Amino acid sequence: MIKFDPIDTEHRAHLLANLRKRFDYDWVQQFAKNQSTPCLIFDVEEVRSRYQELQTAFPLIRHHFAIKPLPLAPVVEMINRQHGHIDVASRGEIELAKEQGVASRRMIHTNPHRKIGDIEHAIQHQVEQFVVDNPKELNKFLPYRNHVKLILRLSYPNDLSQVNLSYKFGVPPSQGLDLLETMLKYKFDVTGVSMHVGSQSDHTELFVQALEKTAQYFTDAKEQLGHEFQILDIGGGFPAEYNKPVKSINEFADKINPLLEKYFSKMKIYSEPGRYVVNSSLTLLSTIVGASRRAESDWYFIDDGLYGSFSGILFDFSGYVMFGANELASDQDLSKFIIGGATCDSHDIVHDKMLLPKLNYGDITITPNIGAYSWTHSTNFNLIPRPKVYDRQGNLLG
Ligand SMILES: Cc1ncc(COP(=O)(O)O)c(C=O)c1O
Repeated sequence: MIKFDPIDTEHRAHLLANLRKRFDYDWVQQFAKNQSTPCLIFDVEEVRSRYQELQTAFPLIRHHFAIKPLPLAPVVEMINRQHGHIDVASRGEIELAKEQGVASRRMIHTNPHRKIGDIEHAIQHQVEQFVVDNPKELNKFLPYRNHVKLILRLSYPNDLSQVNLSYKFGVPPSQGLDLLETMLKYKFDVTGVSMHVGSQSDHTELFVQALEKTAQYFTDAKEQLGHEFQILDIGGGFPAEYNKPVKSINEFADKINPLLEKYFSKMKIYSEPGRYVVNSSLTLLSTIVGASRRAESDWYFIDDGLYGSFSGILFDFSGYVMFGANELASDQDLSKFIIGGATCDSHDIVHDKMLLPKLNYGDITITPNIGAYSWTHSTNFNLIPRPKVYDRQGNLLG
């Protein structure tokens, strides 16, 4: 069974206040009627403002938006319009970025393990910066040595991030010099070092510790191998607002920027933010399709679930807060409900103590901040179609 966090009532009130600024009850009712539910409403302005916030908070950094949490054309188009950069990890992501006019020199390929054909595909699209974290991967690059610039990924494992990306990826700094030595021996152009402290990390000290260790690694690389890097890539992981309050991006900037100036001022600095940029850009409308009282608990059943928009609960360990659409119009009395998803899987439960008002068959629920790692890994299990994504005008986007 999934362990759900209790709903934080103060945070819920904050999310509702924001929802009321963005959505009107009658508009939501009409939208749900026109498009049918479940549907996700995409707001490109959220992408623009989140990316702009990053650019303002970290003026030294080229932010490579990681496409994976929401691979939608208008997202990439908006980043490109802001003269942004892109993190790609697959053929599909490269093609999406190219279709939206992103110049190849603005892309980095950050997936440390790929097929040789994927490397060839990326090179055909003039992508030249690739992340590498082990010597076996180097063999694949040997024939393309003159076409690629390699970024060595260091690992910084920790238990504090929601998703630990250093278990599967990266080389510990203690082994990183050996890897660098091998890369240099084979005459690769090793331009930089990347890291990722883990996703949805609300701990600024993880960045501080990783930056300090990376600065030491840079010194060791210079002293022991005579190698000077030109690029530092601090990865992604900045927390998005889901079901709990998180530190503001400025709190991260206050800790990170002084270290960038202290240790890395002479180099190009990259980041790879994903969830921070897109999480607030999707809002889910779903419908109550049933209710019951079972084992002394009240249940609502909805037309979406773990196999649909709420897949982030499984794949990203995320939590969401659901509201009755009637709460957009006025405050309601709330009680706890178990929310059953649409499929026949008994595991398909979205929450076991969601605070919701009294709702009836056909009533609309609204769930904000469900843009990252949700729709992208939704399925059509039980042949229930994946939720559709629309812009506010009702145009189908995905
Ligand atoms: C290499 C890499 N960069 C960036 C990201 C984006 O992380 P986040 O969405 O937490 O910012 C990920 C997430 O898996 C990743 O694997």
